[in-house]
Amino acid sequence: MDHRALFIWSCALLQILFLAVDAAVAPSGKGAKYLCECYLRQLKKSTDLTWTPGRNFHENTTDGDMRKLYGYSKNLMNARTVGKKDSEPAKIFGKKTEDKLYPENFDSRDHWPACNSTISTIFDTGFCASHWAASVVQAISDRICIHSGGKKKNLKLSPLHPLQCCKTCGSGCKGGYPFQAWKFIEKSGIVTGGDYGSSDGCKPYPIQSPCDYSTYPNSCILKKTPVLTCPNPDKHCSTKETKPHIYNIDLVRTIPNSDQFTQAWTADFIKQEIISNGPVTATMRLFSDFFSYKKGIYSPTKDARKLDDVTLKVIGWGRDRQKKIDYWLGVMPWGNKFGDGGFVKIRQGVSQLQIDRRMHAGVPQLH
Ligand SMILES: *[C@@H]1O[C@H](CO)[C@@H](O)[C@H](O)[C@H]1NC(C)=O
Ligand SMILES: *[C@@H]1O[C@H](CO)[C@@H](O)[C@H](O)[C@H]1NC(C)=O
Repeated sequence: MDHRALFIWSCALLQILFLAVDAAVAPSGKGAKYLCECYLRQLKKSTDLTWTPGRNFHENTTDGDMRKLYGYSKNLMNARTVGKKDSEPAKIFGKKTEDKLYPENFDSRDHWPACNSTISTIFDTGFCASHWAASVVQAISDRICIHSGGKKKNLKLSPLHPLQCCKTCGSGCKGGYPFQAWKFIEKSGIVTGGDYGSSDGCKPYPIQSPCDYSTYPNSCILKKTPVLTCPNPDKHCSTKETKPHIYNIDLVRTIPNSDQFTQAWTADFIKQEIISNGPVTATMRLFSDFFSYKKGIYSPTKDARKLDDVTLKVIGWGRDRQKKIDYWLGVMPWGNKFGDGGFVKIRQGVSQLQIDRRMHAGVPQLH
């Protein structure tokens, strides 16, 4: 056998080997297992679901790319320690009025119609796990609108600012901690920043979005997770804008106290906060079946795989009387094709999700 033949033979062998490995990892294409048609079919067959499964992401989207949409809280303990050392302890907000009855259904869009368009704005992070920063920024914009009586509408604040410059927030596009993002805004304030591709505001969003997640590959796929460094000195705008608007919030609220996972949560605290001040952020455990959520009231199925955490905005709550289940009404930062036009309903009090105990908010100072 000459060298050439040997080379061809080894190539063929290698190829067979790769094919075998591939097949073992992913049965269909190279996509994440939880996105395959077979999994969706299986979900659709479940009879006890309180939600409707459907396709949000192309089935060939790899697990590696899906990971760029969420995470993480691996160091949640550390984050909490940092938070405690940081400053005064987070206050539990919402004076619970005894005997106060909250409405069965509440939607911030109906309650503050002047801020409907702000509250309904759906962010799309693209393939950068900035959900923790984006949801906080979206909630603050809503609150600024609400606290200004509808005068400061559709204010675009910059998720990039905490992504770049918050040292205690985690790892930028690899995930982070919303509580620290609220803290960052309390201490440093936050500047304006428009959508990707715009030169609006001080720090526009640098990651390509919105994305068409129903195709794969698509133009949004990033080859490398960008490293976002903080300009020195901070308060330096990336655009022409010379006078960054810094918005501060006077107090970061933890509702109830997320430092204590053992503390019994009370939905009333959260309801009181939303009714008084507007949307909050909530962090929930992400399970693999959630990527297939279309509508209805979500709770994870038995076989769903626990992935990591993701942060969303909560704008209200409701109750399905027939099924006798309560839910939080949320907004995901994955564009307006995910779920029910970007909106989701998450069942309250599901221990695996841990959403009820990890809600945060702050109140804006209006200048
Ligand atoms: C996914 O990738 C496989 C292998 O490349 C291909 O055969 C299949 O058609 C793709 N699926 C879709 C829905 O495009
Ligand atoms: C809010 O806006 C949406 C979309 O523009 C509209 O369908 C809805 O009726 C509005 N709701 C309120 C309470 O104004």
